[in-house]
Amino acid sequence: MYVDRKPSMDLEELKEAMTKKFQTNQNFNSLEYFDEMLNFVELNHIYSSALEEISTKLKILDDEFQVIHKHNPIHHMERRVKGTRSLLSKLERKSLPVTVESAKDNIFDIAGMRVICNYIEDIYVLEKLLLKQEDIKLLKRKDYIEKPKENGYRSLHIVISVPVFLSESVEHTPVEIQIRTIGMDMWASFEHKMRYKNTKKDTEEYMTLLKECAFEISNVENKMQDMHNDIKD
Ligand code: GTP
Ligand code: MG
Repeated sequence: MYVDRKPSMDLEELKEAMTKKFQTNQNFNSLEYFDEMLNFVELNHIYSSALEEISTKLKILDDEFQVIHKHNPIHHMERRVKGTRSLLSKLERKSLPVTVESAKDNIFDIAGMRVICNYIEDIYVLEKLLLKQEDIKLLKRKDYIEKPKENGYRSLHIVISVPVFLSESVEHTPVEIQIRTIGMDMWASFEHKMRYKNTKKDTEEYMTLLKECAFEISNVENKMQDMHNDIKD
């Protein structure tokens, strides 16, 4: 049911990113360097635990749904903790202080989860059931299904906060959840690959075709949903 897209913390990557930071900051002494490394390891642990909490919540809901409605809303889930290199460059890009504290306060997709659903209605059912839970707080919501992006991208994005209970503290940790159908996921994976692999010219050539595909996928999904609702009743 889960696919871990980045199985565990990449210590080589952390060392490389921290060494670069250390070399470019003359005021940074070796004790601070060591401390900051430990902070990043601890950060990774907290966000991985938050993903574990959310995965379990979603799995429980999916299992219960199967028992009650003989239908699994979740096709599969993917999860990852943002790598150190990518986290540090996001902080730099946003002109924010490059520290663990600043990452915790400003970056909401350190823990990321993708929930791939079978049908469109499953997306909203899962969202509702998750947000109803009393330990979950909604921080941000963007519905790119109701209002797709200009390029045709569709998905529901929510950022929620979940408490992670540690031995000495409770860490309220944000998790970005992208909830989408299999069709939306196929479209987004292709579009992402194209953007990173191809030249700007090819990307522009495909833009119209991709938008048409997004529209057709949406039509097919609506028809499938209607048929599914018919046979369900
Ligand atoms: P940042 O996280 O700071 O970039 O901004 P944001 O959180 O406001 O962005 P948003 O919620 O719109 O999108 C965040 C994530 O959604 C991205 O990292 C992608 O995984 C996905 N995403 C958003 N737009 C697109 C798109 O046009 N194509 C694809 N393939 N993925 C997208
Ligand atoms: Mg984001």
